[in-house]
Amino acid sequence: MSVFSDKKSEIHSSVNRLYNLLENKRVAGEKYHWLNLGYWKNSANTQSACQDLIQLVAEYACIQNSRKILDVGFGFGIQDIFIANQYPHCEIHGVNIVENQIEEAKELVSENNLSNRIFLQKGDATQLDYDDETFDKVIAIESAFHFYTREVFFKEAYRVLKKGGALCLAEGLPNFNKISDTKFIERSRFLGIPIENQYEISVYINKLKDAGFTNIEYLDVSEWVVPFGAFVVKQPKGWRFNEDVCIPDKETLEKLISEFKTNTTIDKYYVVKSIKA
Ligand SMILES: C[S@@+](CC[C@H](N)C(=O)[O-])C[C@H]1O[C@@H](n2cnc3c(N)ncnc32)[C@H](O)[C@@H]1O
Repeated sequence: MSVFSDKKSEIHSSVNRLYNLLENKRVAGEKYHWLNLGYWKNSANTQSACQDLIQLVAEYACIQNSRKILDVGFGFGIQDIFIANQYPHCEIHGVNIVENQIEEAKELVSENNLSNRIFLQKGDATQLDYDDETFDKVIAIESAFHFYTREVFFKEAYRVLKKGGALCLAEGLPNFNKISDTKFIERSRFLGIPIENQYEISVYINKLKDAGFTNIEYLDVSEWVVPFGAFVVKQPKGWRFNEDVCIPDKETLEKLISEFKTNTTIDKYYVVKSIKA
């Protein structure tokens, strides 16, 4: 095996270990499938904040004008069910590498009678099993930081998009290119984030350009994700439960934000859109 494929399988193992760890923290009987950190501008409730993040991505990506969408790193597929219900004309395909998520997502799709419009399969973001120019939109929500590497995925996304199609991403990034800090490197490894993916937004934009994308735009929504994310991830039940949250006082919150930034390696949160001209 090459060094590249060794590194890739190491990252895939870390991703599987991480999500199995989170899975074990799930309370028996709870059926809460949202995995994103939420967009809290108009919501104090975890479920609606998670839905609002997907709605933000869907609107930014202009999904209303699309027929065929690829969701890369679909978690439990709950956002695909949400999108399919919001936009009844579109067909959604998805890939993920974590087996139990794929199985549960397929069950959810079937329970929601959407098996004729949502097609989920096992697959790696950096080797997409689709023909060139298949999709109107490719989305990756809080997943591209895991891919080995994100820039290889950018090239694959470009390949499978039709001309005029868009790649829309939502994810947290560091606000520096600090690859020499040992603690940061260790934390990234624990989180299944290749150190090669740890760079700030200007580098991110350049890598999209290198993959061929144009018309690159982004929204900095850090203020509506990070403080609330910092609070909810610290709750005993985590952020995956359907409850209203009450943000603590400024001093406590600042401490939580600082811990969140260290623990997740996320400083800023962006929604990014780019076009295949
Ligand atoms: C934080 S979760 C986000 C899930 C979902 N997009 C959401 O917003 O709820 C990251 C997802 O990316 C998936 N993932 C990680 N590496 C992947 C890869 N190389 N190819 C495809 N999916 C991957 C994980 O299994 C997980 O489902």
